[in-house]
Amino acid sequence: MAKAVLAFSGGLDTTVVVKYLQDEHGLDVVTVTVDVGQGEDYEAVREKSRALGAVSHHTIDARREFVLGYIHPAIMANALYQGKYCLATALARPLIARKVLEVARAEGASALAHGCSGKGNDQVRFDLAFMSGSDLPILAPIRDKNLDRPAEIKYAAEHGVEVENVAKRFSIDQNLWGRAIEGGVLEDPFTEPPSDAFIWTRTEDLPHNPTYLDITFRGGVPVAVDGQEMGPVDIILHLNRTAGEAGVGIVDHIEDRTVGLKSREVYETPGAVCLIEAHSDLEKMVHTIHQSRVKAAMDAEWARLTYLGLWDEPLRRDIDAFIRNSQGVVSGTVRLRMQGGAVRVVGRRSDHSLYDQRSATYGQDSTYDQRRASGFVELWGAQSAEANRILRKAEAEQ
Ligand code: ARG
Repeated sequence: MAKAVLAFSGGLDTTVVVKYLQDEHGLDVVTVTVDVGQGEDYEAVREKSRALGAVSHHTIDARREFVLGYIHPAIMANALYQGKYCLATALARPLIARKVLEVARAEGASALAHGCSGKGNDQVRFDLAFMSGSDLPILAPIRDKNLDRPAEIKYAAEHGVEVENVAKRFSIDQNLWGRAIEGGVLEDPFTEPPSDAFIWTRTEDLPHNPTYLDITFRGGVPVAVDGQEMGPVDIILHLNRTAGEAGVGIVDHIEDRTVGLKSREVYETPGAVCLIEAHSDLEKMVHTIHQSRVKAAMDAEWARLTYLGLWDEPLRRDIDAFIRNSQGVVSGTVRLRMQGGAVRVVGRRSDHSLYDQRSATYGQDSTYDQRRASGFVELWGAQSAEANRILRKAEAEQ
C-alpha cells in the first residue's frame, strides 16, 4: 500500500490525522517524532503510534542539530520577530520537516502529512519546507477538512480512538529554545496569564538577591557560563533553568501571523532572552557604527523570513551568509544581572572591543583632543544649518 509520512506529536491533531489518512485515503502511515527538546515521553508517543496502527515509527533526536543549525544562526541574528518573539516554534518546523523528508525518502513514501490547522503559521512552515525539499503531495486533513477541536474529538470517538486530556487549559508548543502558550483564557488579550501557564519561569517568591550570569561568546555563539565551558545543548538548558529561576523570560505580546490574523502570544524563553540580550550587547562593542546599522536591518529581515516560513528562501541564506561573516569578532563576555524578573546587562568585555576607554574618559589623561571636534561639527552640520538659514530668511521676508 502507498505510504504517507506524518510529523507526529501524539497530540489530538496528529492522532486524528493518522486515522484520517488510513481510513479516508487508504494509506499506510509512517509516523516521525523529532526530539527538539520538547521533553516528551518518546516511548509513550511510540506506543500511541503503534496503537493507532501506524506501519512504523521513527524517533529522531535532533537536539544538537537544532542548536547548531537553527538556534545558533538565530542568536547570531539577534532574532526576535516583531522585536519580541525568539522564534522557538518557527525555527523547529523546518528541521522537523527536513527529518520527515529524510524518512519519506528512505521509506519510498508517496505523500507527506502534518496536523496543522489552517489558522496558524505552522502549516505555512511545514508546507513550504516540504515544497522546497520534494515534489510529493502534502496532506493536511485538519486544515483541509476545516476540523475544529470538537469535530476532531468526535471523529476520534467515532473511529474508536481514545484521546486523553482533551480539556487542557492551554495549547502548548515547546522545545529547547522556548515554550509557546496559547488558547484558553489567554485568548482575551486583556487577561493576565495565570501563573500556572508557566513552568520554566518563576513568577512568585522570586529570589531577593540579584542573580548574575557571565556569558562567554566565541564567534557569535555562546560557549561558557560563569567561566565554565558547556556543550551547545547544555548551555541553553542551563540558562533556561537559571534565568527561569530568577523570573526572567516571559514575553506577552500581540503578534501578526503570516495568515493575516493577529494573535495574543505568551512565551517563556529564559535562555533566549538572556542570550539575545547579551549577544546584541557584545556586538555593539565590537562592530563599527556602519556594521551595526546595516546588521540591525538584516537581523530584522532574517527573523521576518524565518517567522513567515521562508527558511529555505534564498534571501534568508544570503542574509545568513552576511550575518555569519560579521561574527568572527563577536567574542567576549557579557555580565547579566537579573532581579525581580528583569534582566539587564551590567558589564561586557572583548579582545575585539572598539571601545577605547583612554579616549572616551572624562578624566584628565584622555588621548582625545577636544579641539579637533569643532571643525568636524561645523562640516557635519553645514547642510542642515544652510537649509535652516534659507528657511529663516524666507520667513522673515513674508
Ligand atoms: N505564534 C508562535 C509561532 O507562530 C507559536 C506557535 C505555537 N504553535 C503551536 N502549534 N501551538 O511561531
